[in-house]
Amino acid sequence: MPRAVVFDETGAPDVLQVVDEPVTEPGPGEVRVKIEAAGVNRLDQLMRSGAFPRPFQLPHARLGCEGTGTIDALGPDVEGISVGDPVIITAVPAMELNGTYAEYTVVPATAVIPRPAGLDSISAAALWVAYSTAYGALVEKAGMRPGDYVLITAASSSVGLAAIQVANQIGAVPLAVTRRTAKKDALLAAGAAAVIVTDSDDIVKAARAYTNEAGVDIILDSVMGPGLAELATTAKRGGTLVTVGWLDPRPAPMPMIAPLTIYRYMSFEHVLNPVVVRRMAAFLTAGLRTGALRPTIDKVFSLGEIVDAHRYLERGQQVGKVVVKV
Ligand SMILES: NC(=O)c1ccc[n+]([C@@H]2O[C@H](COP(=O)([O-])OP(=O)(O)OC[C@H]3O[C@@H](n4cnc5c(N)ncnc54)[C@H](OP(=O)(O)O)[C@@H]3O)[C@@H](O)[C@H]2O)c1
Repeated sequence: MPRAVVFDETGAPDVLQVVDEPVTEPGPGEVRVKIEAAGVNRLDQLMRSGAFPRPFQLPHARLGCEGTGTIDALGPDVEGISVGDPVIITAVPAMELNGTYAEYTVVPATAVIPRPAGLDSISAAALWVAYSTAYGALVEKAGMRPGDYVLITAASSSVGLAAIQVANQIGAVPLAVTRRTAKKDALLAAGAAAVIVTDSDDIVKAARAYTNEAGVDIILDSVMGPGLAELATTAKRGGTLVTVGWLDPRPAPMPMIAPLTIYRYMSFEHVLNPVVVRRMAAFLTAGLRTGALRPTIDKVFSLGEIVDAHRYLERGQQVGKVVVKV
């Protein structure tokens, strides 16, 4: 019988277990996907650990919000897609029921896009969440333009690395922020114009120096926490702060500098909108074709190693995406 990862209670990574799970038939407007690989995301970790912002049903919750594979079955009324087509899943409306850490899942037909030609399944599993978030926050939300200085916190995260590449594809100037000197070279190799190491550099002075004292045009922040107010002072007058994550769970003070436009970005705002998904897919496909976008894989685990994969994600030493090969 096909396998799936489930958990009966929230907690540490070892609540995750691999069980046999019967396949379900796709309903009207749905497709069943035979998963080849799944990306491991912070959202999954929040859900598993009990910090997920909405209630969900236990026991036997599934997990995983991104993945790639081939179409295995079509529900009634599905057109324009065929069994065997390689696809990327763009949204999993109910992870607890249809999580992608599994051999099969069922999602709406509108929540898959064709897998770009030539993209292997591991890279495809690392693409959508990171790059659609980076593109959505920087381009759709903040209106990033060529020449903009963009300060990117947690730059070694999969979202951060995607943001570096998206900024370069647009012609903006990505300034990467990390806590660890050990990640500096990897971030320069990934395309950062400069790297600020918060353990040793003064982030405000460094950002000012890199921008000829003007301040950055856009801050893309995944960290928040008490450092948010100081981080905001790296922006120029009239700049934009987009927060996409809350890696530091401590309260974040509201930045008191003005004028500053602040957005709290959630990719669900865009990935359920077919018009924006089409733009996102076109942007990503073009970037993959030219080589401007190259998903960075840190480590690949097997489905049976899912507990180790979550432990590894929580250690925070990765540069890029953690992927599970199914
Ligand atoms: N808004 C959305 O729709 C959306 C979508 C996807 C992801 N996200 C968010 O984006 C963020 C990154 O996700 P990801 O999956 O790309 O992460 P990831 O690959 O797991 O990256 C983690 C990296 O973030 C840095 N980090 C971790 N904890 C930190 C802390 N307390 N303070 C500062 N830096 C910390 C570390 O880098 P250093 O050690 O180098 O600093 C670590 O390597 C998460 O907050 C996630 O929830 C949001």
